[in-house]
Amino acid sequence: MAVDLIHEKEFVSRLIRPDTWIIAGHPVSAVTYLLIGGCTALVIDPGEHVHSIHDYVRTITGLPLIVANTHAHGDHTACNGQFKKYPIYASASAVEELGRKRVDPDRYTTEVRYDYDYQAVPIGDGHVFDLGGRRVRAIAAGCHSEGSLFYYDEKYKLLFTGDELECGQVLIQGTIHGVRHSVERYRDNLLKVKQMAGEVDMICPEHNGSPADGSVLDAYIENCERIMSGQEGSKKIGSATYLGPDDPRGPERVKELLSDPFSRRSEWKGSALVYSTNCIFLRDE
Ligand SMILES: [Fe+2]
Repeated sequence: MAVDLIHEKEFVSRLIRPDTWIIAGHPVSAVTYLLIGGCTALVIDPGEHVHSIHDYVRTITGLPLIVANTHAHGDHTACNGQFKKYPIYASASAVEELGRKRVDPDRYTTEVRYDYDYQAVPIGDGHVFDLGGRRVRAIAAGCHSEGSLFYYDEKYKLLFTGDELECGQVLIQGTIHGVRHSVERYRDNLLKVKQMAGEVDMICPEHNGSPADGSVLDAYIENCERIMSGQEGSKKIGSATYLGPDDPRGPERVKELLSDPFSRRSEWKGSALVYSTNCIFLRDE
C-alpha cells in the first residue's frame, strides 16, 4: 500500500472511457494515455515524467504492452526507454528524430537522464493496432511536428492528437529540416483526419483540455478558413499556459517566438492557432 501512496503523489490518473486512462505526472508535462484491449494494452506517448511511468502503468494493467508515439518531441517521448523491452512505434520521420537522441544522448540530457538506447519501429498512415476487440488506427497528418500521427480508437471514437490539435493552442511549426508548414496544409490535414476517422466523440490532446468534445476539430478547421480568407490573428501569441515565465521550452525559444514579426495567434470558438503570415497557403512543403 505504501508504494501505491507514493504513486498517487507521483502520478494522477482517471478513466475517461472504459479501459481508457489519462495519466498525468508530477511535475506536469504532457500526459500519457493507456488503452486496454482484450489481449494488449497500448501506451500512447510515455511522456517526460520524472518518475517511472512504466511502473505506474503496471499498477493498472499486467497485459503485454505496446507503445505508440504521436511525434518525437521530448516531452512526449523521453520515457520511451522505460518500455524498450516492448515494441515502440512512431512515424518514419519521428523514428529518424529519435535515432539522433540515441546517437548523441548527452545533447538531450536534462536534469533527469533518460534512456535513448532503443530502436523505434516506423509505421505509417492506416497502420492498425489490434488490442483485442479494440482497434486503434494511425492517421498521418503533421504540421506541429513533421510526421505526427493521430491515433483513432474505433471502439470509443476517441481521437488522440498529440500536439496537432488541443485546447490551449496549437503551434504550427515545421519539419526537422526547417521548413515551416502552412495554415492551408494544416487545414487539409484536419479535413483528412475528419474524413478518415469518421465520427469523433472526443479528442484527447496531451497538454490542455483533455478530453474535449469532438467539435474542437471543426473549430480548428473553421479557424484555418478564417485565416485563409484574410482575417489576421493577434500579434500577442502566448496563451495562458504557454510563453509565460515557466514555459517548458525555455527562455531562448520563448524569446525567438515572441520576436518573430510574422507570428500571429488566431482564436475561434475555443480554438487557438499560432501561425506565420508568411506561411498561410500551400507551397513546397
Ligand atoms: Fe510537440
